[in-house]
Formats: sequence, C-alpha cells, structure tokens
Amino acid sequence: MLHTISLPGATLSVADQGGGTPVVLVHGFPLNQTMWQAQLTTLSDAYRVLVPDLRGFGQSSCTTDLLTMENFADDLAGMLDELQISEPIVLGGLSMGGYVAFAFWRKYAARVKGLIVCNTRAAADTPEAAAGRRATAAKVLQHGTAELVSGMSAKLLSSSNPRHEGLTATLITMMQTAPAATVSAALLGMAQRPDSRPLLASIDVPTLVISGQDDAIIPAAEMRDMSAALPASTYVELAEAGHMTPMEQPDQFNQTLLQ
Ligand code: MLT
Repeated sequence: MLHTISLPGATLSVADQGGGTPVVLVHGFPLNQTMWQAQLTTLSDAYRVLVPDLRGFGQSSCTTDLLTMENFADDLAGMLDELQISEPIVLGGLSMGGYVAFAFWRKYAARVKGLIVCNTRAAADTPEAAAGRRATAAKVLQHGTAELVSGMSAKLLSSSNPRHEGLTATLITMMQTAPAATVSAALLGMAQRPDSRPLLASIDVPTLVISGQDDAIIPAAEMRDMSAALPASTYVELAEAGHMTPMEQPDQFNQTLLQ
C-alpha cells in the first residue's frame, strides 16, 4: 500500500509492502522511490519493505530552500513513529540515501539493527565540490534541471550493462520529475553534510556495503576502504554495474540482501 504521511512542513509518500522485520530503503539524488521497485517486489516476500519518497521528491511535497541530510533523517524517524514502528529497522540507502543513513545513525542509532549502504561515501564534500554544488544549485533555480539531468544520466550507469539504454531512459524520466526547488535545496544540503568517517567505528550493527565495479561517481575502491573502517561489514562489488546497483543488477542485489 501507499501511505501519505503528514509531517511538520511536508507530506511523505511511502510504499509499504510485506511483513516481518522493517527494511527502509532510501533513494538517491535526484531520484525517487521507484528506483527500488525490484527490491520492493522481491524482498517484501520476506520483510516489511518501506520505501519513502524523501521530502520534495516523487510524490512527497515540501517547500524549503535547504534540505539537509538531518532533515531527511528526522523525516524517516517521523515516518516510523506515524506508522507505529518501534522495533529496530534495517536501513538501506543509495548514494544520497547513504548520506541520510549516516545522518539517521548519528541521531537514532538505537532504532537501527542493520545497515545497507550502496554506492555512497562517508566523507563530506571537499571545499571545491561543495562550492560546485552551490553553483549548480543557483543555476538550477535560474535555468531548471535539464543540464543537471543530462550530466548525471551520462554518469549513472555502467556502459557494459546490456540494459544500459533502457535504464538510462527510465532514469532520465525519473530525474525530470524532481522539481528544481527540491533539487537546489538538496544540493545545498549535501554540500553542508558533515564528515561521517569518524562515525564508522561506532557502527556496530551488521552493515552490507554494495558497490558497482564501474561506478563513475563513487569509485568501488573508495567503498572498499569505507567497508574496511566498519566493524561489522560485508563488502560486495557487483560487475556490469555503475552507480545504480539495485536497478542494474536487481537479481544479484536482492540475493545479496537476502543472504
Ligand atoms: C546520488 O546519486 O544520490 C548523488 O550522486 C549523490 C551526490 O551527488 O553526492
């Protein structure tokens, strides 16, 4: 079923399927819950899978000019409260969703029994990267998201994946639905996110780290290093996959999660 949850300053659209341990999957930027369709369908045979649109994305509404990773994490906690889920969850996030997972751990670690971090990094932006994001945020507000969408679509997928073309079209459509105001606000939020590397040693729950061998945005080697800094991690690198492992290799991705 699809919930619409009212939170301070936003409504969240959340797909909720299956029963058992809650598994919350958080999408990347500038995407929405539909990127997790293959996981929602398959994993809900064994788990209660909850897939939100972060505020401002997909069917979730919000008007603000700054969206921090902490804002998104607070929304996840609010979502769990509204759905009366008090048992610890398994929390998964891809890329920006991973930044949100680290922000959630920072504030709500007691609510987490396991983590899945895909195609993401613990480090903050370098000063140059943060300045670049702020410039892009201003550009998006002035001229729209077309340039950002076309730039990202060229980098998201592995060209060695046979489904590359069809997936590119799907992702372009998904990214085009993100409003310019949300895209800009999230860019500003990512630019100011804190360094989560000092947090890694405290993450004592089982953590699955998944990277794509051909990820052009967050290199697999960086994820391998992040995994080594986590006390209880399993590292999996998927072939014929870039930045969008759950969409590019859905079967292997799901099998890895189920294991
Ligand atoms: C994402 O996929 O969420 C973005 O590439 C994250 C980022 O821009 O750092």
